[in-house]
Amino acid sequence: MTEPITPLSTALIHHEYQPPSGFGAVPVGVYKASTVIFPNVAALRARDWRHKNGYTYGLHGTPTTFTLEERLATLEGGKHCALAPSGLAAIAMTNVALLRRGDEVLLPRNVYGPSREMARTLLADWGIAHQLYDPMDVAAFKAMLNERTRLVWLEAPGSITMEFPDLRALARAARQHGVLTALDNTWGAGIALKAFDLGEGAAVDLSMHALTKYPSGGADVLMGSVVTRDPALHEKLLLAHMRLGVGVAANDAELVLRSLPTLEVRYRAHDASARRVASWLKTQSSVHAVLHPALPDAPGQEHWASHCRDAAGLFSILLDSALPIERVDAFCNALRFFKLGYSWGGPVSLVVPYDLRAMRGDAGRLPGHLVRFSIGLEAPDDLIADLDRALRVLR
Ligand SMILES: Cc1ncc(COP(=O)(O)O)c(C=O)c1O
Repeated sequence: MTEPITPLSTALIHHEYQPPSGFGAVPVGVYKASTVIFPNVAALRARDWRHKNGYTYGLHGTPTTFTLEERLATLEGGKHCALAPSGLAAIAMTNVALLRRGDEVLLPRNVYGPSREMARTLLADWGIAHQLYDPMDVAAFKAMLNERTRLVWLEAPGSITMEFPDLRALARAARQHGVLTALDNTWGAGIALKAFDLGEGAAVDLSMHALTKYPSGGADVLMGSVVTRDPALHEKLLLAHMRLGVGVAANDAELVLRSLPTLEVRYRAHDASARRVASWLKTQSSVHAVLHPALPDAPGQEHWASHCRDAAGLFSILLDSALPIERVDAFCNALRFFKLGYSWGGPVSLVVPYDLRAMRGDAGRLPGHLVRFSIGLEAPDDLIADLDRALRVLR
């Protein structure tokens, strides 16, 4: 029996009780730590923060974040995963890991907007150039690859305008040129698209995922991941992660761990509802076009069909360009179940009208007003009834 510790403050900090080991339960434990306690100096000196065989500092991992990383690597069909506090932070971490002054990065014209903004501002300030390519024109893309090109970002389908590119052809061309590829696989979510299984010579090097969307599924977490099969690339990502200090909170990791088991069924439910709602919208005279990669006539539908069977719950429509913008806004405001908001992948359906010209300049010139929908988990008939009612504003 050791001497009881007094006074109380010390006793409560250095309490002797150790709970029995071997606790078993369904949820993964939530381990929180800034500091990690080492058993002795030898362990403190020996542990390497880069490896998952021990713990060194809260930023570099806990049992909770290591478990999430391993499950995400499995989801994406990769081997290694690094987490970041948002999807955009995962994009930044990738750029910082792989690009240096004098390099050039290629981005699709329809890339997630803040990624293009990062290239236009921060990367430019650091002496890293970028070019925007048309993802639907493989020949023009090939012609852009040059001796400075270090990284190509891919996205399928493109943000907001939803064009589905020939990913295999783009990835192959980059590989043949010795250029690394990073796929923003947020839409594919590791379900519709397996980034590392695109076929001979076409596997991408990195798959980035905004876990904020479907893996969280609750519209309550911001997080991102970057998965790779290549240990050397993973090490570069870990160095960027460490140098930037982009850790994730234990409670957020817990929420994603809790949601992952239902990811596949939720994704399929979003997909089925979205196809029903999008197909119905296609029959409406006030809807000029429906931009859903799985629907006939959508831009790149043949590429979607050759890469995927599944699709997410996301699509856009074009409304007659002759309509005054106030009527488009009135249509969005008239919706009851569709809330106005950006971050898709949650249970609640969302709608956003976009001014593509303001965002993309001439590349954003479209034959109509674009409105994007994220289909949630409400009954699709209720969503269709809601749209039917709101469309009367346009008739
Ligand atoms: C395609 C895509 N990539 C990345 C992101 C960034 O994710 P986050 O909101 O977690 O920064 C988003 C967010 O909307 C997105 O749509």
